[in-house]
Amino acid sequence: MKLLTVVGEGAFGKVFLAKIASTNKYYGVKMLQKHRLIERQVDLDYAKFEINVMKDMKHPNILGIDFVRQEDYYIYLILPFSDGGDLSKCFKEKVRANEKKKFKGVDLTEEQILFWALKIIKAVGYLHSKNIVHRDLKMANILIDTHSDLKVCDFGLAYQFKTDSETQNLPCGTPTTMAPEVINKQPYRMMPDWWSVGIILYEFMNHITPF
Ligand SMILES: Nc1ncnc2c1ncn2[C@@H]1O[C@H](COP(=O)(O)OP(=O)(O)OP(=O)(O)O)[C@@H](O)[C@H]1O
Ligand SMILES: [Mg+2]
Repeated sequence: MKLLTVVGEGAFGKVFLAKIASTNKYYGVKMLQKHRLIERQVDLDYAKFEINVMKDMKHPNILGIDFVRQEDYYIYLILPFSDGGDLSKCFKEKVRANEKKKFKGVDLTEEQILFWALKIIKAVGYLHSKNIVHRDLKMANILIDTHSDLKVCDFGLAYQFKTDSETQNLPCGTPTTMAPEVINKQPYRMMPDWWSVGIILYEFMNHITPF
């Protein structure tokens, strides 16, 4: 497999576009650096959980995983490649292109917004039906391909509740999309994800986050 170019970067490593020459197939390769996981006091179970969620999820709007490779220093998550990148980049490009036409914003139709909203809501509902809260839903964690198909990705902060009454109070996520109860370290279950979906929809309509 040949790593071609960097398409994303995060806390624990980079994401590459890669190609297998023998099959001519493209993949997204998320490379996690083991020492960075350990430095940040997150043990390797963090990566195992992210991998297991992606393996278990069978939904058209949730990014799956093709295979995993492990070396001494790295864990490679070999993912289906979304050729439109993530929604945050896609929006920035649209805004830039429109600014040249002297129009500030993204010219999304109401139909387009509804079409995407439905896909995101279905994906989140599916995750919740498996007792999993994503905890970092935002534009950068939703991938898009050339057919305008959306895939929720990045399960690095996801958590699976063991029982129906269990709650969490760990404050995690991205400040602009975090629900008040998460920021205030109050007990929560799935609700914070719906807050984040609301922020994403606001962003679709207004091209900025409300907070
Ligand atoms: N399969 C893929 N196809 C295309 N682009 C991808 C793919 N996976 C990730 N990316 C790009 O890489 C970026 C970072 O990926 P991801 O969100 O999974 O990692 P991260 O934010 O580094 O995660 P973590 O929070 O676990 O550190 C995404 O926002 C997206 O732009
Ligand atoms: Mg991410």
